[in-house]
Amino acid sequence: MGRLIVRAGSLRDLMDVVRVEHRCFGQEAYSTTTLLLLLSRYGRFFLVAEVDGRVVGYASATLRGKAGHLVSIAVLPEFRRLGIGKALLKALLERLREAGARSVTLEVSVRNKAAINLYLKMGFKAVGKITRYYQDGSDAIIMELSLEGEG
Ligand SMILES: CC(C)(COP(=O)(O)OP(=O)(O)OC[C@H]1O[C@@H](n2cnc3c(N)ncnc32)[C@H](O)[C@@H]1OP(=O)(O)O)[C@@H](O)C(=O)NCCC(=O)NCCS
Repeated sequence: MGRLIVRAGSLRDLMDVVRVEHRCFGQEAYSTTTLLLLLSRYGRFFLVAEVDGRVVGYASATLRGKAGHLVSIAVLPEFRRLGIGKALLKALLERLREAGARSVTLEVSVRNKAAINLYLKMGFKAVGKITRYYQDGSDAIIMELSLEGEG
């Protein structure tokens, strides 16, 4: 892999992020409008991963009060298993913690072993389940990471 940089996303990155989102989620991809909204409203928590100047992944979160929520994380298929997802999530959690988040929650499909493993590795724990949450009928696991007492 070339040089990896994790940095805050900007409007200039929007179409690159849209492409990453579509390649990673297909039919279930967030729309350009939703991504634009996340970028403009929660820009501090919208990060992109660049390898040799090319956007190959991104991660987005929201913060309401002290409750952080991971909205999305995706890395282009040909750049997976290189530590990019972990680097994005680590940087995002750090920003959320610095901004006062006490906890971070997320939903993940029970079928998404790669993402579940990544979240477990970062300290998230399963705290609940939502039946038939996704379009394909699969259930979502709700996971949570406590940031209390860190830093
Ligand atoms: C989930 C995703 C972001 C992980 O990105 P990544 O850059 O490949 O992740 P990393 O290389 O940082 O992996 C970190 C850890 O996650 C786990 N992991 C990642 N991919 C895995 C896989 N295919 N199978 C099992 N575990 C996996 C491993 O524990 C891995 O550590 P290791 O490589 O030392 O074993 C990526 O697979 C992706 O974009 N998937 C499609 C989009 C998606 O499902 N996003 C999550 C929606 S909730």
